[in-house]
Amino acid sequence: MILYQNQFVPKDKMHISFEDRGYYFGDGVYEVFRIYRGKLFEKQAHMRRLVRSAGEIRLRLPYSTEEIEEKLESLVIQEQIEEGTLYMQITRGIAPRAHVFPKNAEPVLMAYCNEVKRPLGSIKEGITAVSVEDIRWHRCDIKSLNLLGNVLAKQEAVERGAGEAILHRSGRVTECSASNVMMVKDGVIYTHPADNCILHGVTRAVVLKLARQEGLEIREEARSLEDFLQADEAFITGTTVEITPIIRIDGQAVGTGRPGPLTVQLQSAFEKAIIS
Ligand code: PDD
Repeated sequence: MILYQNQFVPKDKMHISFEDRGYYFGDGVYEVFRIYRGKLFEKQAHMRRLVRSAGEIRLRLPYSTEEIEEKLESLVIQEQIEEGTLYMQITRGIAPRAHVFPKNAEPVLMAYCNEVKRPLGSIKEGITAVSVEDIRWHRCDIKSLNLLGNVLAKQEAVERGAGEAILHRSGRVTECSASNVMMVKDGVIYTHPADNCILHGVTRAVVLKLARQEGLEIREEARSLEDFLQADEAFITGTTVEITPIIRIDGQAVGTGRPGPLTVQLQSAFEKAIIS
């Protein structure tokens, strides 16, 4: 079933207007939630980010946040998903193509969920990454439907045989194509500050909280690509990837070339957080 506005519509009956501004302009915002044990993980954090993203692009939400939460929860129950993801987007609505905001269009909410297993293989073994220049706009903190910069970066990574693209602006690492990135050097965890250059990842915030609880030192500072290449450990964080070690960057081993001890420590703290 697809949740479309107020209705649950079977997938094969679902139609989207060609005049939806999401289709024309990527004019909308989205969220991806993780479902663990039939529940939306970090629901409030995702909802807060949704409200913020919508506000930043001056998009009026079609329902109250309580109503949206209720709809999403009933979708999860109806689909009987125990372990999976929920995708939701809200666009500025349906109107003849014109850049200026339409006067009377009703924003369009669409959501569905899928059963998705945790990527336990890559969480354990790690992935490789390549560096790609970050060519995106300067509001990467908005979870907007416009993802061309991310799509091109991920495609380049895959074509170069890697699992993720580490994005950098003139050598300063920001985040990855669909995840945040952190590195460890001499026992300190470094990650880019939550400003306009990165998406303020829900998983990133959970990991930083867990790291503090574990008594680990964190510095929210941008590091260079060179620093990442010289790091003891590196890992990505994200709703679907959780905490996934990066074991090689541009063909060069990170640390020992195996998931490092702080990464593994954080993974086990995260594991506890998702089952509690
Ligand atoms: N992506 N940075 C970018 C560019 C992302 O697209 C994502 C998530 C993250 C991690 O954010 P979070 O921890 O809140 O998932 C960081 C989602 C999963 C996606 O677009 O599919």
